[in-house]
Parts: sequence; C-alpha cells; structure tokens
Amino acid sequence: MAHLFKPGALEGVRAVVTGGGSGIGLAISQTFLELGAEVVICSRKQDRLDLALAALSPVGKVHATVCNIREPESVESLGDFVAEKMGGLDLLVNNAGGQFPSPAEAIRHKGWRAVIDTNLNGTWYVTHEMANRFFIPSTSGTIVNIVADMFRGFPGMAHTGAARAGVSNLTQTLAVEWAKYGIRINAVAPGIIQSSGLDQYPPEFLQGIAAKIPMKRVGTTEEVADLVLFLASSMAAYITGETIYVDGGSRLWGDNWEVPDHDAFSVQSQSGES
Ligand code: ADE
Repeated sequence: MAHLFKPGALEGVRAVVTGGGSGIGLAISQTFLELGAEVVICSRKQDRLDLALAALSPVGKVHATVCNIREPESVESLGDFVAEKMGGLDLLVNNAGGQFPSPAEAIRHKGWRAVIDTNLNGTWYVTHEMANRFFIPSTSGTIVNIVADMFRGFPGMAHTGAARAGVSNLTQTLAVEWAKYGIRINAVAPGIIQSSGLDQYPPEFLQGIAAKIPMKRVGTTEEVADLVLFLASSMAAYITGETIYVDGGSRLWGDNWEVPDHDAFSVQSQSGES
C-alpha cells in the first residue's frame, strides 16, 4: 500500500518500532522510512540491530538501541533514547514478541512466564512509558500493537494466545481511556507470514500450511506493514480500539496446524524470545 501514499506522507513523524530489527518489524520500519518518518528501532540483540541499520540507513533517518522490553528500567532507557534522538514521539508500534509451539500441558511455568512477560507485560511497559512520557503530555499519539491470529484461541501456543488476547483487550480499554488525550490505538493480527519469525518452528509444524489457508498462500511482511501504515496514518483518523486481521481468511476457516503430540518434538528453549 505504501505506493498509495504520497512520497513524504510521513515526513515529520517520529516513530518507535520495537523488534524493528527483523521480520515484520523490519518491514514496518522500512515502510515508515520510505515515506519520510524518523524511526527508532529496538531489539534485545545488538547484532540484529547492526544488520538492520545497514539495511535501513540508506532508506531514511533511523536510530537503533538495545532494549529488553521485559525490563521496565530498560524500557525507561528506551524513552531516554527517544527523547535524546528525536525530541518526542508520534507513533509507537509494539511489534516485539516471541513464542514457541508446545502442547499446553508441556509448557513449563518458566516458559509460560517468559511468553507472558514479553508479549503482554513488555507491550504494557513500552506503552505505559511512551504514553506518559510523550503522548499524554502532547495530547496526541498513535499506537499499533502487533498481536497474532488468536480469533479461535491459539491451539499449540496457549501462552501467546492468552498474551495476545490480553493485548487486544488492552487495546480496547486504552482506546476509550486515552481518547481524551488524542491517542488512537489499534491492533494488527497477522496470520502465517513468511518471515524470520517462522524459523523457530519445526518444519513439520508448518508443513502444508498454505493449503489450509483460505487464500492458499502465506502472507508477506509487506502486507502486514501496509495495514500498520494505514492504521498509523490519518486515513484511519476515526478508527480506534480495533483488532484487524491480515491472515488470508485463516481466522474464519480451516485448520491452522496440528497441535503437536506431547513428545512429537522437544520443546526447545521455552524462552519465548525470537
Ligand atoms: N523481541 C523478543 N523478545 C524481546 C524482548 N524481551 N525485548 C525486546 N525485543 C524482543
């Protein structure tokens, strides 16, 4: 969709994209930069940021900093970095997240806590920091939360389904509470998207997946970025509190994947980090 927007459509917009160093977050950052926004990306991993900076610096004005969204102090430092580099903030994309497939009964408490901590608590820490520091004082701001295709629950990844549904509900609450501050907040729920995020799943988990999607193909990171762009733009000025799916129809029909047997494959890291 980016080409439907005039060149420079995001000129003067200052954005943060968490997890902007790879996958969907990288595509979102690239789209914003192409249209003239200034972007801070953050990730837990410096090497990921180095690679992303090399790719994004020729496109536009981009800054990168290490941040662990699970740690409120680290998120506060992200706020400092944003203030120092951009002097304010107009747009936040809560994209950082991660999970691992496992039958529910095999998820250890540590793995459960890690996924909730990253996807629900981390999203909240960043939202709370950026709202209190930038959006509420300036009575303006736009937030887009990246969640997941949890419309019919999330069989095979109970932890992330619970966390993402929490973020979707939080999106509704904050849309109402913060409308008086001029803040809009929406969520984007991607289905199966061809990106580095899929690397953490064993091949058998995704085997034949395209045939199960009503549109018979997986999505692209650009297709997710296009929806984020629309919601972030003034074209969506009267839309708030929504969760919109970009999933080729998966939420409505067909099996997503087989929930693996307890012993079908070893649950790798249980860290909940991508
Ligand atoms: N991406 C995945 N997990 C993350 C975390 N804890 N902090 C920042 N980005 C992440």
